Amino acid sequence: MKIKNICCIGAGYVGGPTMAVIAQKCPNLDVTVVDINEKRIAAWNDPDVENIPIYEPGLSEIVKEARGRNLFFSTDVDTAIDKADMIFISVNTPTKTYGIGKGMAADLKWIELCARQIAEVAKNDKIIVEKSTLPVRTAAALKDILDNTGNGVKFQILSNPEFLAEGTAVEDLEKPDRVLIGGDIDTPEGKEAMEALVSIYASWVPKENILTTNVWSSELSKLTANAFLAQRVSSINAMSELCEKTGADVNEVAKAVGMDSRVGPKFLKASVGFGGSCFQKDILNLVYIAKTFGLNEVADYWEQVIIMNDHQKRRFAANIVKTLYNTVSGKKIAILGWAFKKDTNDTRESAAIYVTDYLLNEQAEILVYDPKVKPEQVYADLEYLCTHSNEEIRERVKVVTSAEEACKDAHAIAVLTEWDEFKELDWKEVYENMLKPAFLFDGRRLLNRKVMENIGFEFYTIGN
Ligand code: NAD
Ligand code: UGA
Repeated sequence: MKIKNICCIGAGYVGGPTMAVIAQKCPNLDVTVVDINEKRIAAWNDPDVENIPIYEPGLSEIVKEARGRNLFFSTDVDTAIDKADMIFISVNTPTKTYGIGKGMAADLKWIELCARQIAEVAKNDKIIVEKSTLPVRTAAALKDILDNTGNGVKFQILSNPEFLAEGTAVEDLEKPDRVLIGGDIDTPEGKEAMEALVSIYASWVPKENILTTNVWSSELSKLTANAFLAQRVSSINAMSELCEKTGADVNEVAKAVGMDSRVGPKFLKASVGFGGSCFQKDILNLVYIAKTFGLNEVADYWEQVIIMNDHQKRRFAANIVKTLYNTVSGKKIAILGWAFKKDTNDTRESAAIYVTDYLLNEQAEILVYDPKVKPEQVYADLEYLCTHSNEEIRERVKVVTSAEEACKDAHAIAVLTEWDEFKELDWKEVYENMLKPAFLFDGRRLLNRKVMENIGFEFYTIGN
């Protein structure tokens, strides 16, 4: 099957960068990314390419090259569906906030809406690609909806989960460790659909890195990959607390352990806790799936990864209060970094939100600085928790435009995102402009203890 027109429903952190790279690597394909969010599409179409809605190193250059040539952004979902030979679904699949499975299961409302819209609009056969992260066996539900239109249109459903990490999305898309494609391997039509998608990726990914499996393995592999990655972070974070009690240094432990080639060195950085839109939601989803099959031990095993992560965020915040003589009421605390990791403007599930909320409970005055996150996002993140009134949040939390401004006259600083620019700050000057004793809490192990202590800071970090 020859693919000429591709459409992607969902112009978010995955849909946008993924389609931009496909358009760049396959100039013979026409790629249209659609979304119901008009503001987001307008931002993707902004003549100044620096204003695209997602910050990722290298992304604006790719958009500049491909946009208007073979990469298009639109709110006209129906037209894009109608034209497309292959449709990627890359909409959000957050944790359910209501009803059965509340707080655990993935909310598949938006996925189902897409399937119904495709079923309604499609007039010729199409390949549907699950790009969103979905519970295992979702493809069966999609197939059910798509196969019951009664208009004779045939659909092939593929699972093609995305493994990019934010902040390195372009790099990850250009050189993926692997591309995973799940499909109906038992029928010629299924195989043909898989081959069509393989040949798109093969334009730039070596064939041996393109893995084909059955649909269920593909869906489950995505949840498994995120669970394993998050588990490593929770494992090293658990050790960080033990290091603090014993005089061991978590970086030294991580290095010693990671040099064992069976363990490997990556993803062993102790931190204030993992954030991001997916680790927590995907593990909760896994826990929920295990529970629905009655696999309680499996569910409990994975749930512990989340419990440890919540503990890590809480104990970091509690340590600030304890160290500042058990009260932060009315004290100024500078939060350096709001994004869940460096090089992204995404703040979903960022540890900074929870640490700040904890400090607000203790009536602290908060000053936030992040190089890429807009003030409205900071307020929206705190308001979403519904633990403090909007008035109180706006009164107690100020978002400023430089780290120096945030730290001026502060009682304490908490570094919560590992932005490179925080390493380069003139820490001596920061120290001089703070109240004394000047407390510095490094939630990212970004700063050197000796250097900071020599300047005069009371320095606290994770894991030693
Ligand atoms: P996102 O919230 O940034 O983007 C999703 C977009 O889909 C939104 O702009 C929303 O308006 C749009 N949308 C929702 N329903 C729609 C509909 N019916 N029609 C048209 N548009 C619709 O989400 P994201 O971070 O891009 O994640 C998307 C999926 O990819 C999720 O399942 C996530 O788990 C998965 N994933 C995310 C990452 C990541 O790093 N963010 C990485 C791998 C996989
Ligand atoms: C993660 C996975 O790495 C991607 O492969 C996956 O596609 C994606 O989730 C997804 O499904 O959404 P992402 O959340 O964007 O990507 O970023 P990560 O680099 O994995 O970082 C997640 C969180 O863990 C961050 O808060 C980061 O600071 C923290 N982390 C990571 C640590 O605290 N220590 C580490 O050693 C690594």
